[in-house]
Amino acid sequence: MSKKLKISVIGTGYLGATHAACISNLGFEVIGIDTDQAKIDSLSRGELPFYEPGLDELLVAELKTGRLTFTTDFAAAADADVHFICVGTPQSKDSLAADLTYVESAITNIAPHARSGSLIAGKSTVPVGTAQRLSAILAKSAPNVELAWNPEFLREGFAVEDTLRPNRLVVGVTSDKAENILKEVYKSLIDAGTPWIRADLPTAELVKVAANSFLATKISFINAMAEICEAAGGDVTVLAKAIGYDPRIGSRFLQAGIGFGGGCLPKDIRAFMARAEELGAMQALEFLREIDAINVRARQRVIDVVRGELSEDLTQYRLAVLGAAFKPDSDDVRDSPALDIAAQLQAAGSSVVVHDPKAIANAKKRFPNLNFATTVEECVTGADLILHLTEWREYRELSPSAIKALVKGAIIIDGRNALDRDKWVVAGWRFHALGRTPV
Ligand code: UGA
Repeated sequence: MSKKLKISVIGTGYLGATHAACISNLGFEVIGIDTDQAKIDSLSRGELPFYEPGLDELLVAELKTGRLTFTTDFAAAADADVHFICVGTPQSKDSLAADLTYVESAITNIAPHARSGSLIAGKSTVPVGTAQRLSAILAKSAPNVELAWNPEFLREGFAVEDTLRPNRLVVGVTSDKAENILKEVYKSLIDAGTPWIRADLPTAELVKVAANSFLATKISFINAMAEICEAAGGDVTVLAKAIGYDPRIGSRFLQAGIGFGGGCLPKDIRAFMARAEELGAMQALEFLREIDAINVRARQRVIDVVRGELSEDLTQYRLAVLGAAFKPDSDDVRDSPALDIAAQLQAAGSSVVVHDPKAIANAKKRFPNLNFATTVEECVTGADLILHLTEWREYRELSPSAIKALVKGAIIIDGRNALDRDKWVVAGWRFHALGRTPV
């Protein structure tokens, strides 16, 4: 049998740390590289700098095997066979486009050390055409190093599961050799039946943004239906359930509410539009503008509901916000609808107190002027109204009667359509959810 491949993972944020630990778990020697010394020190100690269920245990276990190490020194990857690029591609400060600075510097930093015959495999989400452009640059600085693109589809909160049991593997390659190297890395997943899709570089890049655009479209579609249900007196949760039984539609990602946030969906659809514009194909993606607009409108609609329940002038009210993370099981607050709404309500003059089981530290960094509570009880005490904005399990399990004893006004807005309405109504609450008639 041939010698086991050595792997480097460049960028040890959310994606990179998960990828490094999971590839080590597949039995490979992995070196994780990042320019952030604090992040490297933390990972080397077995401490995750963010919250992700199951990844902390996996990290500790893989460090113990001796297969997984972390460094800031790119030269340490000189003997690696595959270099995975896992750095971020956030939205640019001054446009809708993706900021490719980190991807470009990752390639520039690794190129002088990458040994002849090794493969660089990009996992970061990039605008279509990036891999071809970077290949041309690489051909000059490291002519015997090939570039492939291997997009990542993991979800926060399920990162380990999605990496070790993905629903497909997609590789954009320009040679059989590159495909075979990646097949060797993912052999155990392929053997377990994971569909393997070989594509050219642009298609591989597009698969990722197309998938995220589709998911965003599904969410905005149901949120548009929620608006119609509100106008017509219908119930979007029943509507979603009913259409979801059609297997061509499917029931997942039809949870109406305050819309999508996070570090991926919002910036990916915007970067996709920006790239389509450059390609002279914007007409094809015009609909994504509407998807984005519906999503942003969902946040505003919650604020309108609060005004409708209390008054136009919010200055006299104390509002309790349950949830700061962009979704449950995550401490990520990037473009979080919950936090955005909390900040807007505070800007409207109300006194807002936010609770979240995991995301308070990150939320504080972003909005230091908001008030934060460490317990749900502290958050809701004396509140005129509660907004449920991130559907953590602990919020679903709250006792409406126990909470009622603490608040000033028993009004709850369910921004995620995740609470048991009957339970709250029976306990004497006014219950207002997006896309449903308030009761
Ligand atoms: C998303 C994709 O789901 C992953 O497949 C992809 O790999 C990832 O982006 C990425 O590009 O890296 P993630 O950002 O972790 O994953 O979050 P999702 O689970 O997709 O949720 C995104 C947002 O949509 C959240 O704010 C969530 O609350 C919201 N959402 C989701 C809804 O409002 N309704 C739904 O029915 C589903």
